[in-house]
Amino acid sequence: MMSNKQTLGDTPPEEFRRQLHELADWVADFRQNLGSLKVAPDDKPGAILSALHTAPPEKGEAFDQILSDIDRFIVPGMVHWSHPMFLGYFGWTTTAPAILGEIITAPLNVNAMTWRTCPAATELETLVIDWIRQWMDLPSKFGGVVYDTASVGVMHALAVAREEAAPSVRKRGLIGAGAPIFRIYASDQAHSSAEKAAIALGFGEENVQRVPTDAEFRINTNTLREMIARDVRDNLKPLAVIATVGTTSTASVDPVPEIARICRESKMWLHVDGAYGAGFGILPENKSLTNGWSEADSIVVNPHKSLFVPLDFSVLYVRNLERLRDVFTLVPEYLRGDTVDAQKNYMDYGIQLGRRFRALKAWVIFRNFGREGMAARLREYIRLANLFADWVKSDNRFELAAPVNLGVVCFRFVGTSMNKAVAGIDDAGVGSTSPAIEEKLDRLNSEIVERINASGRAYLTQTKLRGRTVMRIGLGNVLTTENHLHEVWEMILKTANTVS
Ligand SMILES: Cc1ncc(COP(=O)(O)O)c(C=O)c1O
Repeated sequence: MMSNKQTLGDTPPEEFRRQLHELADWVADFRQNLGSLKVAPDDKPGAILSALHTAPPEKGEAFDQILSDIDRFIVPGMVHWSHPMFLGYFGWTTTAPAILGEIITAPLNVNAMTWRTCPAATELETLVIDWIRQWMDLPSKFGGVVYDTASVGVMHALAVAREEAAPSVRKRGLIGAGAPIFRIYASDQAHSSAEKAAIALGFGEENVQRVPTDAEFRINTNTLREMIARDVRDNLKPLAVIATVGTTSTASVDPVPEIARICRESKMWLHVDGAYGAGFGILPENKSLTNGWSEADSIVVNPHKSLFVPLDFSVLYVRNLERLRDVFTLVPEYLRGDTVDAQKNYMDYGIQLGRRFRALKAWVIFRNFGREGMAARLREYIRLANLFADWVKSDNRFELAAPVNLGVVCFRFVGTSMNKAVAGIDDAGVGSTSPAIEEKLDRLNSEIVERINASGRAYLTQTKLRGRTVMRIGLGNVLTTENHLHEVWEMILKTANTVS
């Protein structure tokens, strides 16, 4: 039975020190042995919950007991995104400096809502945002704010676009302000966060218009122009275009300079979704990724996808950040004394009041790796992606399903050469003249991914391109080596043989 003394206050310092040392070993062991864990569990839904005590704890338990349950129930029930054989989504990673940065952040327990509530958090946020801006060669007229995700970033950007197009919506709401029906345009490859933003902002999901893409999955700008003109004729109000730099399925890059011209001509807001692709702009050889960005109104960059910062850390840049502040500043009386004029109060730049000290982990990682260190790792992802694509191209039972962009390879099992000929698949990709064979190939591609993921030895994703199921890998993990990738390729070959 715990004494009263022990139930009040915090863990005694000596006990806490011992726990921290134990945890340090746990973290180091976890990182070192990660490659030997199953990448993903093969449990039925609910299996983890049924193994845990579901009644709320009445009495306190020892930390050692809790840590041992993490080993028994939580770690085996996870998809290990940092596992070297995890190639799902964008393959993003954590790193040792990232973990150290997260650990330092925990005891500081900051609320970075105003400058006064933590000057260091506010000023460090401003600093790391500006480092990324410089790495992207963005002009200094762009200022930024850190949010949790790109989805939240695009919602804030479109709120500013809405206010500038219908200036009293903030005060009177869409109907009160007599706002028109706004239209937003994004490619058929753009992320669904566009629709989520439209739902939240009262635009309506259907008013996000999906524009077809060309053979390389980039937005078709002629069709974009036509769609805008048609909407104007129909008395709808074109508000914004979302150009994507690194789309979710194929990492394709929309022609931002041309889209910027269209936005300028039609007086529309240009939002660049660089959630994944922007990070690769720190490579001198990839500078073209940021072409046209200086013309944008807003840009999202997710360092938690491609600049080594663990979830969550997303930056929204706005050309003249005060445009964002104009829409969201609202200082309640109880915080008035905490705001200092001429200092940034990041609560003014979004709907969130309480804010974590996210900048600290980014600062630790950026300093520890340096731009050069990050660039070298990104370059290796690109090399590995192209190497994998070479393996795909050299085996006639497989096809590339899209051009290789950044760290992403989309590919498709198409069976024997005879199958391929019967299916009418040409070297350009996933075209077909035989629906029955294509449907069979869809099922086989899906099955290969599902079998590999269920084995716990590697993790891939599948996606649909032009209606066809394809396999997809994303290179984005500092622990993934050429040997790992080769092992995954061997597994794909073996599994394809088994299912076909
Ligand atoms: C191109 C693109 N934009 C936006 C997002 C949404 O990112 P977040 O999870 O940060 O909201 C994703 C997610 O994968 C994405 O691929």
